[in-house]
Amino acid sequence: MTKIAILISGRGSNMEALVNAIKSGKLDAEVCFVGSDNGNAKGLQTAHELGLDTIVFSYGEGGGSNYSKRKAEETMLQAMSEKNVDWLVLAGFMRILSKDFVERMEGKIVNIHPSLLPSFKGTHAINDALMYGVKVTGVTVHFVDEFMDHGQIIAQRAVEIKEDDTLETLSERVHRIEHSLYPETLSKLFIKGRKFNGQ
Ligand code: GRF
Repeated sequence: MTKIAILISGRGSNMEALVNAIKSGKLDAEVCFVGSDNGNAKGLQTAHELGLDTIVFSYGEGGGSNYSKRKAEETMLQAMSEKNVDWLVLAGFMRILSKDFVERMEGKIVNIHPSLLPSFKGTHAINDALMYGVKVTGVTVHFVDEFMDHGQIIAQRAVEIKEDDTLETLSERVHRIEHSLYPETLSKLFIKGRKFNGQ
């Protein structure tokens, strides 16, 4: 069974979808802990209620200095090594990981993003796609490197934007796709290993 750690910063709905997939036998994995840079993240409470171990990695005040980022990452590496974590799964984690951290994880970090990358990187991807007027957006699962929403793409799924979509209706459909694409993709990835190309 693949051992994973999940990092979140907010709501944690993707984390919850992964846990549900594990419980229903669709994803053969064990969650060693749910970590966050934000002690007030709603998802931490959800993780706690689901009976999962939670850890807060402090990045310091005001966005954090390079020093506090390095300390936070060292603490993460330590926690992952103690629990023999195989894969680090980012699910709404709002920090960029350092090159050093990424290299030490040897390509075993994945992320989900609510657009068809490389379009609409960043925090407001769903709204940005809607405002730009594209007719199709979607969801991307990708390997993580030291750049924002960047790294080899593993899987993508399109979501059509309708004429009368609002941020709320479009977000709802995008998140629904995220909640199925992430567990499906990770399930294949954990079976096939690093060379998985989405097929
Ligand atoms: C998701 O849209 C994910 O793609 C992005 O951040 C959002 C996190 O949502 N990286 P949640 O915390 O999983 O509900």
